[in-house]
Amino acid sequence: MIDSVSRNILFSNDAFLRFFKDLQVVAGKNVFIEIAVLSEAVSAAAESGAMAAVECTHTNARFELSPLLHSEQRPALLQCVVSPLTAMTLVPSGEGAATPAALLVNEGYRRILDHFPHNVWLCTVKGELFWTNRASNLFTYGKAEVHDADNTRYITKIHPEDLTSAGAALAQAMSRGHMEHPHRYRLRDHSGVYHWFQFSMAPVFDAQGMPIYWVGTSINIQAVHEAELVAAAHIEQLRQRSAAHEGRALESQRVLAQQHKMELVSHLAGGVAHDLNNLLHVMGINIELMRVQMQPEAVLPYLRILEGCLKKAGRLSTQLAGFSGRMPQNAAALEPQALVSDIQDLLAKAVGAEVRLTVELEHGLQAVFVDKAYLENALINLAINARDAMDGRGTMLLHVGMRSRPGPAGVAADYVMFEVEDSGTGIAADLRERVFDPFFTTKSSDKGSGLGLTMVKTFVENSNGHVSIESTPGVGTRVALYLPVSRVPVETVAEDTPRQQQGAGRILLVEDDDSVREAMNSILNQLGYDTIPSFSSDHAVTLLQSGMRPDLIISDIRMPGRLTVLDLIAVVEAQIGTPIIFATGYSADVVIKEGLVNDRYPVLFKPFSAADISVRIQTALGQHPQIGNGGAVTTDATPPLG
Ligand SMILES: Nc1ncnc2c1ncn2[C@@H]1O[C@H](COP(=O)(O)OP(=O)(O)OP(=O)(O)O)[C@@H](O)[C@H]1O
Ligand SMILES: [Mg+2]
Repeated sequence: MIDSVSRNILFSNDAFLRFFKDLQVVAGKNVFIEIAVLSEAVSAAAESGAMAAVECTHTNARFELSPLLHSEQRPALLQCVVSPLTAMTLVPSGEGAATPAALLVNEGYRRILDHFPHNVWLCTVKGELFWTNRASNLFTYGKAEVHDADNTRYITKIHPEDLTSAGAALAQAMSRGHMEHPHRYRLRDHSGVYHWFQFSMAPVFDAQGMPIYWVGTSINIQAVHEAELVAAAHIEQLRQRSAAHEGRALESQRVLAQQHKMELVSHLAGGVAHDLNNLLHVMGINIELMRVQMQPEAVLPYLRILEGCLKKAGRLSTQLAGFSGRMPQNAAALEPQALVSDIQDLLAKAVGAEVRLTVELEHGLQAVFVDKAYLENALINLAINARDAMDGRGTMLLHVGMRSRPGPAGVAADYVMFEVEDSGTGIAADLRERVFDPFFTTKSSDKGSGLGLTMVKTFVENSNGHVSIESTPGVGTRVALYLPVSRVPVETVAEDTPRQQQGAGRILLVEDDDSVREAMNSILNQLGYDTIPSFSSDHAVTLLQSGMRPDLIISDIRMPGRLTVLDLIAVVEAQIGTPIIFATGYSADVVIKEGLVNDRYPVLFKPFSAADISVRIQTALGQHPQIGNGGAVTTDATPPLG
């Protein structure tokens, strides 16, 4: 405010003083006198009583002079408003510039920063905090005014775990002259609770481009941080779910692949076993014929060798049928002691001379209901595995005992346990699950195919039993087969049961395989029967419908043609009532699938001997009352050929 007469300044605010920093400005002085343009403008306004405005390069400002008029229209006072011509330098530069006092001299500037809705702070070029705004103070200290905002005090508000990284971010920004990315840290509020903040900072330069201090903002991102945590948890959950899903998909793929492999093996093995059985059957019958008809002492040793080979081939066929997952067909009550004594030599051979084989039989063993050939085969497989695991040296124990375990309906049942224990390498825990998988082997291709334990498990489960495996790497392995106790007594066979029994009658022989039919024909003739050969169900039905009346029908089960054996049975049952015996190279489950119920018609599984068939025929014709009803073939007078 200027006195219009003396031209002295009566009163001025702080902002006004900044324009005259290089002048001695004191209230009551005429400061304009030294600047011509200003002095002229003041005179003009005072004398004319009109407004005057002037731009002054000396102060780089525009002066507007508004006279305040008396009643006589003479101005008594001049009101002078100064505004900067270029962007106002809010911050003083030079000596002492970066001090709160120098910086915050401008009220307007401070007010803007104070009312900025985020934390704002200023620090020196050395990184020392010297001012914090209202928002920052309210958050940190709980009050707007904090006159002693200093570095040390502020630092105690930063989370101890974030102090180092925040300090490093600040130091890096200062050494580079700018901050590349905002940095996150936790700041404690006045009530002691930490919040996540994100800070950025930038230097403020003087007129020469030198940084004079840094201005920083810290934005509270606690809500963002919490949302990020929730999102991360969701993402993790999704990741886990997708991993689990992927795991399940992989597992089901593995199971599917395994099933596929098993189906292939089963199909292949089943087919091979069938054809092999037919061939063995023909060979066996021919050997018997040769033995009976030729009787030359000189060839008998050769025939015995051939019979031995046939036995081995029969065992092989049983193994194949085992891989095919087919049901053991010759299950019967068996004394464990008898089985063990039969197989002990074989086991010793299987493990080799350098393995000490021990057999332990507990007292009170009951009979087991099982197919003997399959069980022998399973024990030999276990013995070979034991030998391989011990590299041919060590100890193997076969322990047989009675055990109670949960049976099919969860009710405890008695089982006969056959346990093979070795002192071998053992099986690593992660492989233990896989040893029963088909084709799983750790052996070279010439030593193992990975089907041994698959066969063992299939056979035991098809026999209504369980398998368990325990192993300690470096100590040894124990594989236990639990097989059901027999509910029927062991059949004792009289030693003097005749091998073959002669008979008489007319037999319709239905068989599509020429060599099998011919061999059967010969053996039946030799046994004293007349035969009418027929090569299909169609043919046989035609013969019967044309009036043929045989005493007995012996028929294969699966044959090409329009009609099946079921049609043959239907015709026989409806019109003739002739007994029928079925002979097949397939296994028991195939027979059942064909719809042939075992206890209605006797079924002979190839290969069978002349003695087998002779006994069956006599039973069927009512000539041999002591043989049962012709159910599944059980223990016979003579072992089948093979
Ligand atoms: N007693 C044992 N000690 C250590 N490892 C064993 C034992 N028995 C089985 N294994 C492991 O389980 C795998 C599978 O056994 P399995 O009998 O099914 O097949 P294989 O012996 O490899 O071949 P194959 O029996 O068809 O000749 C073996 O390769 C071996 O790694
Ligand atoms: Mg094996």
